[in-house]
Amino acid sequence: MSEITSPKTPSRKVHIETWGCQMNMADSERMLALLAQQHYALAASAEEADLVLLNTCHIREKARHKVVSRLGVLRELKATKGLTIAVAGCVAQAEGARLLKEVPEIDVLFGPGKIDELPRLLDQHLQTGKSCMAVGFKRADKPATSPADLAISASPALSGKGEVSRFVNIQQGCNNYCTFCVVPFTRGREVSRHPEEILAECRSLVEAGARELTVLGQNVNSYGADLAEAGVLPTSGAGPFVDLLQAVAQLPGLERLRFTTSNPQSFTQALADLFQNQPKLGRYLHLPVQSGNDRVLTRMKRKVTVAEYRERIAWLRAAVPDVAISTDLIVGFPGETEAEFEDTLSLVEEVDFSFAYTFKYSPRKNTPAARYEEQLPESVKEDRLARLNALQDRLTIRHNLAEIGQVRPVLFHYESAKAPGFYYGRTEHFRLVRVAADRDLVGQVLPVRINAGNKTALLGELIRDA
Ligand code: SAH
Ligand code: F3S
Repeated sequence: MSEITSPKTPSRKVHIETWGCQMNMADSERMLALLAQQHYALAASAEEADLVLLNTCHIREKARHKVVSRLGVLRELKATKGLTIAVAGCVAQAEGARLLKEVPEIDVLFGPGKIDELPRLLDQHLQTGKSCMAVGFKRADKPATSPADLAISASPALSGKGEVSRFVNIQQGCNNYCTFCVVPFTRGREVSRHPEEILAECRSLVEAGARELTVLGQNVNSYGADLAEAGVLPTSGAGPFVDLLQAVAQLPGLERLRFTTSNPQSFTQALADLFQNQPKLGRYLHLPVQSGNDRVLTRMKRKVTVAEYRERIAWLRAAVPDVAISTDLIVGFPGETEAEFEDTLSLVEEVDFSFAYTFKYSPRKNTPAARYEEQLPESVKEDRLARLNALQDRLTIRHNLAEIGQVRPVLFHYESAKAPGFYYGRTEHFRLVRVAADRDLVGQVLPVRINAGNKTALLGELIRDA
């Protein structure tokens, strides 16, 4: 017990479990960096930890379920040994006090807008023995990041992994209110960070060894619109997002620059053109379409039509003829007819996506679509998802097999933990590649000949004397 009452004991160990999007992964890195400052070390498992942190996702009901069932296991663990349970992320934000009431074993609960309060909340809990909670969002006019803050973000992630490739949040929240989506409720309104602040963070990450940066937001193309409106940034030129990418791409030592999520609604020709002029952007883009039918898109309150989506793909292909494009798709949206679903299949076939994240529609509390009549039975959603996945798998495998015989520059991210001597990296098309080597490849870009491929990865070999 004595160990647990001292917040600064070096032997305190944290175990973190992260669900959901890359935003959450970035948030987890930030939490671990804050905890490292409090002298926490990483535990191998929840069983060995003093603090278990669940960074949760609320996007679909299934994601929420996993959190609640995991909490069931942890509360039993807590009964057998001392353990602090912390719940972060979008379930914490969405359910707050209600979740604390349902699971009183939760010691600390905080939303995505309150990450920096984690050390304070832990202290408060250790001192009072009570559950502590912080939810809600920062104001748009929050002060710029301090140098100490930058040091926190640049510190190697406690997780050990991911030092070659790091995430940088450039924007919080979303203003779009797609009718199926909880994000505007769990992450708040769009708030952009100042470009100087972002650039300083990117620079310190690259200096600390990152070779790839992914800038993150729910809607990155509209990055800076709020700052331009407030007169903080100019409104002229290619726009704040293109300007930001260009500035970050100049950082010496940076090999690759990616961004997500790009919403087709504000995807511009200027951004497509940037792919031609800025090789660090690679040959890959994730561009969520959700459905291949205009009536469904309108009811989702997505703001581009299928024709406009095709036009954006054409811009991209004009800039980078062999560009790989992935997407997000929802099947079984309320009222979606069989013919409308088949429009999605046709679009998938036509665009020939390199891969897709596919989802059964999941009704979310407080969202308009959850109140739509004509909710479809689970069996219909399941059937459509299976058909869509079968089609996309066929396309993904075909893309991957077409790589056989090609020589591709691969940025190596990590060595396999399970199979030492095997290194994983990604091509410019964002395809995962596995290579065997008797020297450390992590952080290097090396030409690889692709020899085989399946649905999830390519197998390759280093070109000799590379
Ligand atoms: N900002 C991103 C999306 C974030 S959510 C964008 O603009 O597209 C990630 C994906 O989850 C969405 O693209 C959507 O395909 C899926 N999704 C969101 N809410 C969902 C719901 N209620 N049911 C099923 N899938 C959902
Ligand atoms: Fe969600 Fe639509 Fe924003 S999918 S995150 S409301 S763009």
